[in-house]
Amino acid sequence: MHTFLSDLDAAGELQHVTAPTSPYLEVARVIAAHDGQPLLFENLPGYPGWRMAAGYVARREHFARALGCAVPDLLRRMAEALEHPQAPPVVNTAPCQEVVEPGVDLTRLPIPRYHPLDGGPYVTAGVAIIRDPDLGRNLSFHRLLLRDAQHFTARIVEGRGTDTAWRKLPEGLPVAVCIGLPPHILLAAAMSPPQGVDESACAQALSPTPLVRARTVPLAVFAEAEIVLEGILTHDLDIEGPFPDLTGTMDGVRQQPVFRVTAITHRRDPIFHALLPAGLEHKNLMGMPREPTIFAEVNKVTRCTGVVITPGGCSWLHAVVQIDKQGADDGGRAIAAAFRGHGSLKHVVVVDTDVDLYDPADVEWAIATRFQAGRDLLLFPDCPGSSLDPSAQQVPGQKTCSDKVGLDATIPWGEPREGYLRVKY
Ligand SMILES: Cc1cc2nc3c(=O)[nH]c(=O)nc-3n(C[C@H](O)[C@H](O)[C@H](O)COP(=O)(O)O)c2cc1C
Repeated sequence: MHTFLSDLDAAGELQHVTAPTSPYLEVARVIAAHDGQPLLFENLPGYPGWRMAAGYVARREHFARALGCAVPDLLRRMAEALEHPQAPPVVNTAPCQEVVEPGVDLTRLPIPRYHPLDGGPYVTAGVAIIRDPDLGRNLSFHRLLLRDAQHFTARIVEGRGTDTAWRKLPEGLPVAVCIGLPPHILLAAAMSPPQGVDESACAQALSPTPLVRARTVPLAVFAEAEIVLEGILTHDLDIEGPFPDLTGTMDGVRQQPVFRVTAITHRRDPIFHALLPAGLEHKNLMGMPREPTIFAEVNKVTRCTGVVITPGGCSWLHAVVQIDKQGADDGGRAIAAAFRGHGSLKHVVVVDTDVDLYDPADVEWAIATRFQAGRDLLLFPDCPGSSLDPSAQQVPGQKTCSDKVGLDATIPWGEPREGYLRVKY
């Protein structure tokens, strides 16, 4: 992250915030007002020696810069990393352990409070490393609500990697939370490879990802991290929430596991990553890793040339799929395949290769000029849907139920194409 921020700075893309800015509500308002812009807060009153970064993975261009590729190539790079993970090396000394705090006092960290209605200050960009006794290492994001100087309450979604491992260990699950990571590790941590595949090996396949042994837990952590919180995810429960969800609506209060921190290590000049909930960084990290899974499914039924999960659809519920149409039914087949590729998808638009899938106005143009609802709209009622969608039918203990719609905005097969092509000036 240090190196990446320096690169952005050299390119004139990093905005330095030198005015005193409090992690208590102020930082969040500045990030929200400049969403998409990488920021470095250099003056955090009450936290001498600390700086805070935000927005450095808010745009696809940031990932492309980090991986040394063009934006449309990100899809292929993610797919390759999922297909060919590589074991990361373990080193003996690391920047993330330049300072080992003599005791655990979490109140010394500049943990932001994002919104007045939040349950408290939250760590939002922490990547939790765990080891499942049967499946091995797993990475996931887990938001952490500060409870007191040694404890957080962690939001652990049921049925996923961390939850499954935690349930196997009655004495508690060793966890290391890394904060302040380079873009490629954030991206890999947000991926959901098949069970048993280690996301840090996906990270290594994207870019070098050295690990170093943690100090108080039997885990290896990211050597380049800015901050590492080592500890145990206990079986004590406490209140977690409220906190804004990806959708920008408020998530409620639950009883969640308490994370007892046993060691804090960090760089000599640490930079805390403040990820705004429902901001563009959150959206990118949620949506982008689903694009290769949609791409793979659509490619089974026709030639797929691109997939974008769009920020207007909370980077989770809406996608645009671009195909090189090979036959009359390809649009409809691509719609059904896209829903198979990402179970939470609610609305999908399929376009031809002459439509810029990154440009919402161009996609809308395709709908306006190529789509007829009676012919091209596919409705799938009562499907399993996303629990993040406030309009879906949510019954506690049951899978969320949602209607799904696909719009085939490709040129109808067999009609003369000339009437559909845009004039070029
Ligand atoms: C920015 C961000 C924040 C997230 N916050 C949480 C969270 O608080 N709790 C959670 O269980 N999952 C959260 N997730 C989703 C997990 O990272 C995701 O479920 C994980 O990749 C699942 O992988 P697994 O099945 O290998 O555990 C978040 C994802 C992102 C990108």
